[in-house]
Amino acid sequence: MTSPRSLRTQVGIIGAGPAGLLLAQLLARRGVDSVVLENRSRAYVEARVRAGVLEHSTVELLTEAGVGDRLHAEGLRHDGVHLQWPGERHRLDFVDLCGRSVWVWGQTEVVKDLVAARLASGAPLLFDVRDTAVHDVTGDRPRITFTDADGVAAELRCDVVAGCDGSHGISRDAVPAGLRTRWERSYPFAWLGILADVAPSTDELIYAWHPDGFALHSLRSPTVSRLYLQVDPDERLEDWPDDRIWEGLSERLATPGWTLRTGPVREKGITPMRSLVTAPMRHGRLFLAGDAAHIVPPTGAKGLNLAAADASLLADAVAAALVDGDEGLLESYGDRALQRVWRATHFSWWMTSMLHPATGSRSDPFDRELQLAQLRYVTSSRAAAASLAENYTGLALGRSPLRR
Ligand code: FAD
Ligand code: PHB
Repeated sequence: MTSPRSLRTQVGIIGAGPAGLLLAQLLARRGVDSVVLENRSRAYVEARVRAGVLEHSTVELLTEAGVGDRLHAEGLRHDGVHLQWPGERHRLDFVDLCGRSVWVWGQTEVVKDLVAARLASGAPLLFDVRDTAVHDVTGDRPRITFTDADGVAAELRCDVVAGCDGSHGISRDAVPAGLRTRWERSYPFAWLGILADVAPSTDELIYAWHPDGFALHSLRSPTVSRLYLQVDPDERLEDWPDDRIWEGLSERLATPGWTLRTGPVREKGITPMRSLVTAPMRHGRLFLAGDAAHIVPPTGAKGLNLAAADASLLADAVAAALVDGDEGLLESYGDRALQRVWRATHFSWWMTSMLHPATGSRSDPFDRELQLAQLRYVTSSRAAAASLAENYTGLALGRSPLRR
């Protein structure tokens, strides 16, 4: 048997999603070397349609990482959102309520810019790898083994392993089951999402409660709309031809004097909704970041932003350890990251619970009245609206809301 190709780096990063790519970029700017291993192709990673809303601090991070040019030129700053239920649409003005905004800029574009920056720098980013596995993470010399795109077995020796491989990766399970705690909530619904070549029918996002189920009107650009419909988790895409999707959206988003523009559907998919938090986010020299450690339902628009916040904390901690020899930040990384994670987990659960009525045999008239009461409250009380705005636009990194 031939021995595997041997590679050496400071930080071995598994996964080229937002968490892994941003971590690599932030580390490079601090003079720390890394190798990024991704099991999909570049084309696949760059085309995967997902998040679209960036918090202020995520925009700052991407700018700091040197990948903010297109975002600033083409991204859309949004100063508010609409909340609605049948017959009523209300705008929350984030700037007035908390002095912050969000940016609408697709995750696909974030990933494209990070991949381009990485490849332009010449630093290693290996696509189409297989059989990724981590070893010896409790010692000083952790290793990642994998098979590269040419089918050659390889071993990557590192000082630190960053598990940034998303909700279906292998890193989370590298923390022994006996040491792991897992908190999970599955919701009895999913989102059917479409990307359509049609000018958005709104300038700002619309989150709509409707007796048939939630709907969301979002966007990607002046000519591309992104919309979502609440469906049952076992719903099949084949049962949702485009006409049925547009009918559902038009009905749920309807408001007097407003019409939904429809157009060709370019992409569609169904995403189940769940919350998951796992701890610890550190095991020896293995550190988890992003969806590898936690998943939120998309209603609060937090997943990508949490991945970016983890990458920022981890980059600072790794640089302190490997450049300055100070391990303190690495030791506290997980606990500090989890505080933000649990805040976002609560907010995402709260938005999800307020906006999604149970349907069919699960329908509950009492719950529906509570949801409507809560919607009336957040759109009429300044204190309640400010709380939503503060959470939606995101806390400054490393800061508590009371200390702003
Ligand atoms: P991922 O993006 O999943 O990246 C992980 C990478 O690791 C992938 O490229 C994967 O191919 C790779 N990988 C997996 N296993 C291995 C392996 N064994 N070896 C090597 N590589 C591997 N978030 C928001 O903030 N705002 C939103 O508006 C929003 N909307 C969303 C809408 C939808 C429909 C969905 C599905 C998600 C949404 N999210 C949103 C969530 C957001 O997309 C995720 O939280 C984000 O992608 C997490 O980034 P990540 O880098 O941690 O994981
Ligand atoms: C999106 O544009 O994809 C999007 C926007 C807001 C959300 C979730 C997804 O809450």
